[in-house]
Amino acid sequence: MSKILVTGGAGYIGSHTAVELLNNGEELVIVDNFSNSSPNVLEKIKKITNKDFKFYEVDLLDEQNLEKVFKENNIEAVIHFAGLKAVGESVIKPIEYYHNNITGTLILLNLMRKYNCKKIVFSSSATVYGNPKELPIKEDFPLSTTNPYGSTKLMIEQILQDVAVADKDFRVVLLRYFNPIGAHESGLIGEVPNGIPNNVMPYIIGVAAGKYEELTVFGNDYPTKDGTGVRDYIHVVDLSLGHLKALEKIRNEAGVKIYNLGTGNGYSVLELIKTFEKVNNVKVKYKIGPRRKGDIPACYADASKAEKELGWKATRGIEEMCRDGWNFAINNK
Ligand code: NAD
Ligand code: UD1
Repeated sequence: MSKILVTGGAGYIGSHTAVELLNNGEELVIVDNFSNSSPNVLEKIKKITNKDFKFYEVDLLDEQNLEKVFKENNIEAVIHFAGLKAVGESVIKPIEYYHNNITGTLILLNLMRKYNCKKIVFSSSATVYGNPKELPIKEDFPLSTTNPYGSTKLMIEQILQDVAVADKDFRVVLLRYFNPIGAHESGLIGEVPNGIPNNVMPYIIGVAAGKYEELTVFGNDYPTKDGTGVRDYIHVVDLSLGHLKALEKIRNEAGVKIYNLGTGNGYSVLELIKTFEKVNNVKVKYKIGPRRKGDIPACYADASKAEKELGWKATRGIEEMCRDGWNFAINNK
């Protein structure tokens, strides 16, 4: 039977998507090098789903070993999560970021071509919109980036589109994620930040857990509802379900498709803190600090294209995101 290859399937979004794919009856092969995840996630995926899958501890940069995955399995489609994702680190280590994300993708694409696997769903990011001139953000807005991480996303989008031009049978879905937070309701899988978190939700969780003294809110003088940054937070399970819809799309239709995966709602940092405190009955100490370099005031999606063409819509609200994120944290102290 043909299988779906999930690269980076031990990671935050990949593990949640693996759960939904298995629950939907798909046969999976997961590939990960554990550079930002750990092997115990694989057991948790099995525990949640009561299903098995194949796993290879392989680096995408290791073409020889990656080829074994294609040789030993009939891969129908690839859902490609594997990549480095820390914006700040990418500025310090651009060569590592370009090599891992771009070269890794090129090696993967080369093997896909060789083994006649012509369907790919790629994890892109709302970061490719740069600082949008208007809100909500639509898929046809101009694209730009401000850091090497974002540039790898934009370059990979371009590479995939070029591959689809060269080979009309090649089918691509580019999913531009907004801000994924939350965790699986089982509390078994979730986001495990590596070192001090850069993103707001893992930091809020760290403060609530007593790991960090207080959150610094990066600026309260933005032209937003309360002056703090506004983002489109999306529950990771909703995001994962978007991948199932993308897979369905790619099975039925040729070409390259691009979709925003967001809720369409913007929440400020202060609203996020207040909601987290309320639903979890915990205190999150914070202070107002200066703006963070490179931050934009507000970012939220027009998610209507995904709804219309994929039949996908986020259904989990901000309270559920805060509750599930905290539930995972207290289960995995
Ligand atoms: P993650 O770090 O939790 O997962 C990525 C996984 O890929 C990790 O398990 C890591 O070990 C693996 N990996 C990295 N390089 C690899 C390589 N060369 N070979 C094999 N495995 C490798 O990150 P995530 O949050 O789950 O993100 C998944 C994808 O979604 C990434 O491509 C990321 O850039 C993109 N994305 C994430 C966010 C977010 O906020 N989390 C937002 C937009 C886009
Ligand atoms: C970050 C990345 C972006 C990536 C996205 C989703 C940067 C500059 N950008 O964006 O490329 O696509 O994550 O993974 O890192 N905030 C605080 N205090 C904190 C942390 C954040 O106030 O300690 C604020 C930020 O100013 C922002 C909001 O919280 O207004 C969300 O920040 P964050 O979680 O880092 O996500 P993004 O900035 O959207």
